[in-house]
Amino acid sequence: MGRTARTSFRRLAVSEGLLLDRFSLTAPLLRALDPETAHDLTLWALRRGLGPRGTGPDNPILAVSLWGRTFPNPLGLAAGFDKNASVIGPMLDLGFGFVEVGSVTPQPQPGNPRPRVFRLATDRAVINRMGFPGEGVAVAARNLSAWRARAQYGLVGVNLGKNKETKDAVADYAAGARALAALADYLVINVSSPNTPGLRALQGRSELEDLIVQVRAARDEVCPNDGPPLLVKIAPDLGVAERSDIAEVALGQGIEGLIVSNTTLQRPSSLRGRHRGEAGGLSGQPLSELSTALLSDMYGLTGGRVPLIGVGGVGGPDQAYAKIRAGASLIQLYTAMIYEGPGLIARIKAGLVQRLRADGFAKLAEAVGADHA
Ligand SMILES: Cc1cc2nc3c(=O)[nH]c(=O)nc-3n(C[C@H](O)[C@H](O)[C@H](O)COP(=O)(O)O)c2cc1C
Repeated sequence: MGRTARTSFRRLAVSEGLLLDRFSLTAPLLRALDPETAHDLTLWALRRGLGPRGTGPDNPILAVSLWGRTFPNPLGLAAGFDKNASVIGPMLDLGFGFVEVGSVTPQPQPGNPRPRVFRLATDRAVINRMGFPGEGVAVAARNLSAWRARAQYGLVGVNLGKNKETKDAVADYAAGARALAALADYLVINVSSPNTPGLRALQGRSELEDLIVQVRAARDEVCPNDGPPLLVKIAPDLGVAERSDIAEVALGQGIEGLIVSNTTLQRPSSLRGRHRGEAGGLSGQPLSELSTALLSDMYGLTGGRVPLIGVGGVGGPDQAYAKIRAGASLIQLYTAMIYEGPGLIARIKAGLVQRLRADGFAKLAEAVGADHA
């Protein structure tokens, strides 16, 4: 980058950073940029401490106890935003109850050619075909341990992926677990991104069983007694038989949680954005009902015995609460933040407190799966 370009980039990034908490002012600027450039700029500003900070302590009604840990609130940052674990602290400072980093692949890789992220603003949606670009497990481990050394608080999940060229997928997930288990509050086997050829096939019954057994063994090598819980992240496009297979595997293998869901390959006829024909996974508003329906199904199929993280199209308290009542113990979001800005986090938390109280719940756990009662 030339000197002039560097200076204007810096000026832009600084103004964006300073205005992150006045999102309405920076939004037009960010939207004028290609989505990935806007994202890189946001990460740059966050790494320099230019993000907003401190929304105060969370209302205790929102606290969730799970896997021997206490989440101060149930709203987490979904995977894909912080692929290299470089902005954990700033994202927790925005008010998230936890952050999931990744997907992390064993080796660094460039991902698919750009452009590979597309905004569908009128649909409050995004289509992405990133293909797991990232700096690899060694960099993620270094960033995560540097953060752990400084951090006073905060829970971090680590989402594992595989390199595009790897033939032995299981070995890649096992390598990720070996490198990162000791640093994670939970580990995710991501077998549901649509942009790595063959990945979703790992959701099949015998493939998944084998994967879980081997990743768990890798985790136990490095953390023999107190390893982090192992979760599986699934796709919203699964058929009826695949859903019940996964539920049986989850129960049979004692999987500690499911994340429901990743992006969809479906293209609802309601989509209006000019990029709706792009290849990749669709996230945001149009995914909301689809992913909540799958969440509800998985809660039913597992008899509520497997903790669920609900993700997909959470853009306000109503969708967040719907996921909790459908069976989610925790929730996550990504796409809505692109359109609503970080103020969305406080709005969702305040809205959840209101709804829990209105329905007579003394704590969030009481509302989990309430729609199944
Ligand atoms: C640009 C982008 C990149 C993503 N990358 C990943 C990823 O690396 N691993 C993963 O498990 N999910 C990834 N996701 C999926 C999100 O974690 C989430 O499951 C999905 O976007 C639905 O949530 P949302 O509607 O709140 O965005 C990505 C999503 C987006 C928009």
